[in-house]
Amino acid sequence: PVQQPTPDSPPGAPSGERATVPPGPPALPPGFRLGTASSAYQAEGATDVDGRGPSIWDTFSNLPGTVLDGSTGDPACDHYHRYRDDVALLERLGVGGHRFSVSWSRVQPTGRGPVNAAGLDFYDRLVDELLHHGIAPMAALYHWDLPQALEDDGGWLNRDTVERFAEYAAVVGERLADRVEHWIPVVEPSTATIMGHASGMHAPGREMGFDSLPVAHHLLLAHGRAVIELRAAGASSVGCANNHAPMWPRSEDPADVGATKLFDALWNGMFLEPMLLGRYPVDLEPLVEEAVRPGDLATIRQPLDFYGINYYSPIRVGAAPEESPIPFALYPLVGYPETDIGWPIVPAALREWLITLRARYRAALPPLMITESGAAYGTGPDEHGVVDDQERIAYLDAHLRAVAAACQRGVDVRGYYVWSLLDSFEWVHGYSQRYGLVHVDHATQVRTPKRSFEWYAALIAAQSRSV
Ligand code: NOJ
Repeated sequence: PVQQPTPDSPPGAPSGERATVPPGPPALPPGFRLGTASSAYQAEGATDVDGRGPSIWDTFSNLPGTVLDGSTGDPACDHYHRYRDDVALLERLGVGGHRFSVSWSRVQPTGRGPVNAAGLDFYDRLVDELLHHGIAPMAALYHWDLPQALEDDGGWLNRDTVERFAEYAAVVGERLADRVEHWIPVVEPSTATIMGHASGMHAPGREMGFDSLPVAHHLLLAHGRAVIELRAAGASSVGCANNHAPMWPRSEDPADVGATKLFDALWNGMFLEPMLLGRYPVDLEPLVEEAVRPGDLATIRQPLDFYGINYYSPIRVGAAPEESPIPFALYPLVGYPETDIGWPIVPAALREWLITLRARYRAALPPLMITESGAAYGTGPDEHGVVDDQERIAYLDAHLRAVAAACQRGVDVRGYYVWSLLDSFEWVHGYSQRYGLVHVDHATQVRTPKRSFEWYAALIAAQSRSV
């Protein structure tokens, strides 16, 4: 586990005070890419048009009690129909790149077999629209929305899903690899495994605890197979987008430190080490052993053009109470300001994570990219229609400064993609948590760029002038 750094001067406003940012832009390296990120189920809406098949998130979010406000991915931001308006916003912002994900069940409604031309055409149009406005597309193939028909056959517990994913990757790659700049096969396999299959908080809602780990292996194998397929289709740059959270022990008590090491292996090492080193963390190896076949680890360990990190906050871990069926527990991290979703704001932890990663993996580590970073704040339009989200500005500014500081220490970070362009469907939180640079009224679909949008646009303009 990474040592806990001393608290930063709080980037988020402590209660009652206004958030402020230091003068001058963060000193990012020349050519550093500033972008935005989004995902299909969270933004597109239009879940039953043009032949799209249902995904596990359609099924899950329609079950009572799964999503806090009872909402689903319809209408989300209706981005499927409004993508031109959204690309116009991106152009105003001036971003160099935008990340989106492809909905597998638009392309193959049952996850296998013939391609649904209307579904694939949407991404073709989106890519062309982005390029037309000078924005480099970054495409993810899987952001948690497995076709329901594959789930009915066992989903990610079934090794055959990996074969289906490789086929899907080939289809999308053949169509888009000539124009997409960066590819990410699987977004946050840790979340899909642990939230989706261990705790059951996310779709498909399986509560399997440690028995879920074959899912991790299959997602990793799907990553490796897709990298191969995408390269065969001519993809120029393929990486990943792994969620990383520094794990801080609750105390120096060996029970807390041991529990923290285990959770660190589970959340971070389980995905990072097979991709970079071709092996599982030793403590977890026995739990995946049965799913691993000869050659799998070599398939997973594909050379990557970039290693993408989705960073939000550190997690405080400790030994679990006696009666708990799992050996660790997560505790609140006190003493730090929090975003509205309750996640502590610790930019120094991002800087330290980046520096530690480089020190530990050196030659095995490709250039890094922050494939997601952002903050949930509920700020809405005031009486003049202004969305004055100074806290988000402070959050993003502090995290970009943390990245700049890591770069100055010799870490090769090439880009930063803000989560997210639009206020979107925030999974189990529904529409109650807002991450956008653009406010979305989900009833009317009116988009209102927030102050953070203007701030990011100014930063991007200053960054491009400095090159
Ligand atoms: C990471 C996920 O990739 C994204 O879907 C989610 O909205 C953000 N975290 C915020 O929770």
